[in-house]
Amino acid sequence: MSKVLIIGCGGVASVAIQKCCQNDAEFTEICIASRTVSKCDALKAKIEAEGRSKTVITTAALDADDKDAVLALIRSYQPDAVLNLALPYQDLTIMQACLEGGVHYIDTANYEPEDTDDPAWRAIYEKRCKELGFTAYFDYSWQWAYQEQFEKAGLTALCGSGFDPGVTSVFTAYALKHYFDEIHYIDILDCNGGDHGYPFATNFNPEINLREVSANGSYWEDGHWVETKPMEIKRVYDFPQVGKKDMYLLHHEEIESLAKNIPHVRRIRFFMTFGQSYLTHMKCLENVGMLSTTPVNFNGTEIVPIQFLKALLPDPASLGPRTVGKTNIGCIFTGVKDGREKTVYIYNVCDHQECYRELGSQAISYTTGVPAMIGAALVANGTWRNPGARTIEEFDPDPFMDMLNKWGLPWVVDENPQTVE
Ligand SMILES: NC(=O)c1ccc[n+]([C@@H]2O[C@H](COP(=O)([O-])OP(=O)(O)OC[C@H]3O[C@@H](n4cnc5c(N)ncnc54)[C@H](OP(=O)(O)O)[C@@H]3O)[C@@H](O)[C@H]2O)c1
Repeated sequence: MSKVLIIGCGGVASVAIQKCCQNDAEFTEICIASRTVSKCDALKAKIEAEGRSKTVITTAALDADDKDAVLALIRSYQPDAVLNLALPYQDLTIMQACLEGGVHYIDTANYEPEDTDDPAWRAIYEKRCKELGFTAYFDYSWQWAYQEQFEKAGLTALCGSGFDPGVTSVFTAYALKHYFDEIHYIDILDCNGGDHGYPFATNFNPEINLREVSANGSYWEDGHWVETKPMEIKRVYDFPQVGKKDMYLLHHEEIESLAKNIPHVRRIRFFMTFGQSYLTHMKCLENVGMLSTTPVNFNGTEIVPIQFLKALLPDPASLGPRTVGKTNIGCIFTGVKDGREKTVYIYNVCDHQECYRELGSQAISYTTGVPAMIGAALVANGTWRNPGARTIEEFDPDPFMDMLNKWGLPWVVDENPQTVE
């Protein structure tokens, strides 16, 4: 019996919201609040027309960059928790509003600033690059800075309840609880074997996606970061139910939290699959300046190249009907149990067309939206409470793993997997 305010109504949110409405015994009331309220109203109308959910839905227009506006909505709606499915740019304003409004907080991606040229942010960023040794625009320091305030307020902020970050960290906590005494090596493998038929499109918000993929890679080894050039490290892996794919090492946010929270870990790497055509398009766009976040003056109007590119590219939410194939996302763990070395691979396979038939969206939004709903349910109903700014591996993985099976993302444990060199 929970009342949750959900901010954002894009690809991920539309899955999470429909899943909340399927889980109407838990989510008795939700408010969908986003910048473009017509999208919230359209989704509410779709769910109500289907007539299968008892969840009471309201909608609201909200600019989540405005902390006071978020706080005012929290005060008038009085939710148990806020599920942030807008963009990482809004994480801090929404966290601050939750703190002041006295409600729990859940998101799926860690904070990064919209304007990476902002001198105040840049000074902190450059200091962090030097101190920690990785140059990604996003890192947990901004949200972990809320640790004490959330703790004192008795509020839980659950950061990163998507698939990766999110389920990959739940898999890690589960492996540590049930299969290992110590985990020494973690390889997180994110494979999208789907084909949408476009020459170039991104699976989720293009701006966030292209920023992540075109940045330097990095991994954690022996207590420090090792940074690589973009796409410098390539491996080939034969993914169950998908087949052989090229994958490349990227920086990813869960490496940072797992390095902090998993004792004895020696190395954590993250790989994502990309086809050659995607990489060639991206390189070309980067070379001509289209991935830049620095505004340029065009015919008297200031435009941000990557935002203009986003307007040209297919909306990720529209890829659903045309995407065929499967995703396979999971983690390979090597460590010791009872003095013997062992390797375990835990993964989920998700079919794009099945997701589309169920909810009208492709598998990337689906694999993120389902864990967002699960994280929100566990925090809102009190199963997961640990005041502070937390990441997902800090909680008991078992209820989350059960809910993954129940709500559409069943997982597999392979105790004799192919490993990554
Ligand atoms: N952990 C994971 O596995 C994972 C995977 C994929 C994505 N993600 C994260 O999931 C989040 C959503 O991604 P998405 O693909 O759903 O993005 P999206 O389709 O672009 O949706 C973003 C939504 O947020 C709204 N929004 C943007 N700025 C806002 C503001 N200032 N105030 C209120 N609403 C605002 C947008 O409103 P408009 O409709 O007006 O544009 C849109 O409805 C992102 O943070 C992304 O990084 C996580």
